[in-house]
Amino acid sequence: MGKFRIPLARPFIPPKAHQYIHEVLSSGILTKGHYVKKLEELVCEYVKAHHCIAVSSGTTALEASFSAIIELYGSPDIVIIPDFTFPATLNAVIRSLKGHKPINLYLVDVRMDTYTIDTTIVERIMTEFNTFAEFVVAIPVHIFGYPANDIELQHILSKVKRYVIIGDAAGALGAKINGNTVNMYETLTCISFHPRKIVTTGEGGMVITNNSEIADFIRGLRDHGRTLKSNGLIFKFPGTNYRLSELQAAIGVAQMEVIDNIIAERRRIAEHYTELIDKYLHNTVIPPVEEHNFYHVYQSYVVRLPSEIDQACVIDVMRNKYSVEIQISSYALSNLPYIKSYKYIHKKLNGVSHFLERHTVALPIYNGMSLHDVEYVVKALRETIGVCNIENRSS
Ligand SMILES: Cc1ncc(COP(=O)(O)O)c(C=O)c1O
Repeated sequence: MGKFRIPLARPFIPPKAHQYIHEVLSSGILTKGHYVKKLEELVCEYVKAHHCIAVSSGTTALEASFSAIIELYGSPDIVIIPDFTFPATLNAVIRSLKGHKPINLYLVDVRMDTYTIDTTIVERIMTEFNTFAEFVVAIPVHIFGYPANDIELQHILSKVKRYVIIGDAAGALGAKINGNTVNMYETLTCISFHPRKIVTTGEGGMVITNNSEIADFIRGLRDHGRTLKSNGLIFKFPGTNYRLSELQAAIGVAQMEVIDNIIAERRRIAEHYTELIDKYLHNTVIPPVEEHNFYHVYQSYVVRLPSEIDQACVIDVMRNKYSVEIQISSYALSNLPYIKSYKYIHKKLNGVSHFLERHTVALPIYNGMSLHDVEYVVKALRETIGVCNIENRSS
């Protein structure tokens, strides 16, 4: 039993995972074996991609992807990252840039309704730089499991000479636009297998791409720069170790076998939340949106609180009075203390990411959460909001 009556997240471990882990232990093959390959095959089949490369985390998936682009295509003139995301999206880029020529990196604000990158700002940046920007890398984040508008992004970027979209789909395995998983609109797509994600291996990640040259580079990078030549394995370049172990992959395989059920259940829970919020907190708390032809997988169920409600108070009361673990949803990168040390980082903000950092919260959602517990959370939130109004308290 955890600390809270209702935790924020709880990993879903299908019974088969125990059997597969047992098989790995009995086989004595703990790395580079059957299960890593199987996990890669299952993800590739699910998202209809040519190459899926298992790595040690969502962060290393991003680092490997950005490094591959720099190595194969050179340093981009412009990198575009939404301001509202987990810091790993930016950190991976800063770390991979070491030793390469400085670029302009833009932290771009997000939309108030979907929390994903505001493509009108991207368009403005492109217009501003249209004379010299030859190579642009955009890293849309499919935040909380909701797809960023890759179609609009592709359209805007198609005006520059060369562009690459690296999707940060850390929590968005299975998220779709027009029935296509987001990787279909991207050169590279990065998934996380952290315990709060759709599929979890404890720690882990995956790079998805249809580009064989990029895939070969990343396979080498994750394995010390090794590559297979006719005369055997050779160390071709100074790579690193980003590998996922067989034990981790075995857990992921068991989940990928039931991925449709995992996502369908999360969507059912989210639907119930939205109905109850509409019933008990109508016009007070704003539930997540799902636009026509956009498919949310609800890695997180994030709601927006009215501006007069004190977020810290809501988190505190929900946790300590109702034993419901809620927390802030995500971060405004532009508020990170180390941003100012990087002269190439510029801000293109409207105040939305800063508002969302202070006025959104993630509610519990996990496979196995009962609809009764969803109702308990919503009713507790209704009571909590009543006591966390800054205006009431100061009057
Ligand atoms: C949007 C986003 N990108 C990247 C990551 C990093 O993933 P990992 O924790 O697997 O390194 C996370 C993790 O929370 C995330 O939410």
